[in-house]
Amino acid sequence: MLSKKLVSAINDQIQYEYYSAFIYKAMQAYFEEEDLPGMANWMDIQFQEEMSHAEKMFAFVCETGNRVLLQSMETPRNEYSSPLEAFQVSLEHEQIVTSRINALMDLAQKEKNHGAQIFLQWFVTEQIEEEASVSHIIAKLKRVKEDGRGMMMIDQELANRTFVPATAE
Ligand code: FEO
Repeated sequence: MLSKKLVSAINDQIQYEYYSAFIYKAMQAYFEEEDLPGMANWMDIQFQEEMSHAEKMFAFVCETGNRVLLQSMETPRNEYSSPLEAFQVSLEHEQIVTSRINALMDLAQKEKNHGAQIFLQWFVTEQIEEEASVSHIIAKLKRVKEDGRGMMMIDQELANRTFVPATAE
């Protein structure tokens, strides 16, 4: 049983997860044009992960007998001045997501909804991993700066990322 307030807040987050996917798909397009296929792959996997986050919440709302309501989306940012800037924007975005997930958890705790708290715990942990992995890439990009060889090595490393659906974890 979810309160109307909790259903509405999770619905907003479903929307935000789909919007996150949209942002990362636009970042993939940027990296495709920059001829950095590994970074494009990383962003495509991120797109798929965000879609699966939205789907996981979507399923939770339906399973608890509630209704998902979708809204329109803003145009995502399509241009970046460098790979570093794109990943920095990604980190800033993930920090916003973390604060939104924390606010959802605060609401579930305030309402003493244990089922929702257990469900949201997965997203709390996921956000720690998301912020850590982007921070790691930013650190590497700062280290190589404009060095083409270093950039290619990071690109090759990011080509190895594969998709693990949120529903399978
Ligand atoms: Fe679904 Fe990147 O948080």
